[in-house]
Amino acid sequence: MANINLKGRDFLKLLDFTPDEIGYLLDLAADLKKKKKAGIPHATHQGKNVALIFEKTSTRTRCSFEVAARDLGMGATYLDPSGSQIGRKESIADTARVLGSMFDGIEYRGFGQEIVETLAKYAKVPVWNGLTDEFHPTQILADFLTVRERFGTLKGKKLVYYGDARFNMGNSLMVGCAKMGLHFVACSPEAYRPASDLVDTCKKIAAETGATIEFESDPIKAAKGADAIYTDVWVSMGEPVEVWDERVKALAPYQVNASVMKAAGKDAIFLHCLPAYHDKNTAIGREMCERFGRDAMEVTDEVFESSASLVFEEAENRMHTIKAVMAATL
Ligand code: CP
Ligand code: NVA
Repeated sequence: MANINLKGRDFLKLLDFTPDEIGYLLDLAADLKKKKKAGIPHATHQGKNVALIFEKTSTRTRCSFEVAARDLGMGATYLDPSGSQIGRKESIADTARVLGSMFDGIEYRGFGQEIVETLAKYAKVPVWNGLTDEFHPTQILADFLTVRERFGTLKGKKLVYYGDARFNMGNSLMVGCAKMGLHFVACSPEAYRPASDLVDTCKKIAAETGATIEFESDPIKAAKGADAIYTDVWVSMGEPVEVWDERVKALAPYQVNASVMKAAGKDAIFLHCLPAYHDKNTAIGREMCERFGRDAMEVTDEVFESSASLVFEEAENRMHTIKAVMAATL
């Protein structure tokens, strides 16, 4: 493992990290995963405590932080969207100074990226971004560990993201691919591409790493030669229910289905950060499928359940990579 020291660092967005540092976190995650599978204890952080702030709901991220903290020998305190004073009776800066005096690290999931950046500014302990509207950096580590496990490398691999590329997943995948030398394609209508300043930043990074950043509005053309096909929900947490109409209309041609996977080729994998609307077995999935006369939203059940789909390996990797982030920074 490279001689890299991330002690005391925040983990707010991948733009703050070098390719070597990201590679180090992936190596560490792979090592911690091996230890976990072999039953080798790794409670290297006994006596430490972490706070987990969730202003939006979560299954994977919360459980990953809690299980990872426990495996490392740490205590974890969960603050749910309604059970704390954050934002309503107490500012983020004050919350940061209170929690920073009691805990050794703080995870934050919520709305604007500026909130997690403010938290980090005032907390004096490492702060980890568990998802904001703009970025979801711990998710990208899990995605890249999954790609690396399948193909042995990240460099030169082609990842195509289908859907609304302006939000946390599109942005973060573009940054991650630029940093790690992948070929990133966002396949969406023009209006759903990432903001141009972020694209410019990523293109500059890509020029140094050998990555490429492209945009394509034809879903079949975009898939050609892809190693990984990726999608996310069309309406994200915190968005008003009214946007469903516009999204379904604009993004229906960008659903990941059998034709997309066929165009990508037989070795391509399917990834999704989850949760996914691939059938009618959820309250919102059913409601929206019925409202719009569809069987699924961003991905068909056929692709989701196919052998190309590594979504559950990817979900498991959330825990190993989040553990690596905490272990490296504490
Ligand atoms: N992928 C992800 O962040 O899942 P949760 O919303 O369940 O944490
Ligand atoms: N874009 C999604 C990602 C969920 C992991 C959301 O923000 O809801």
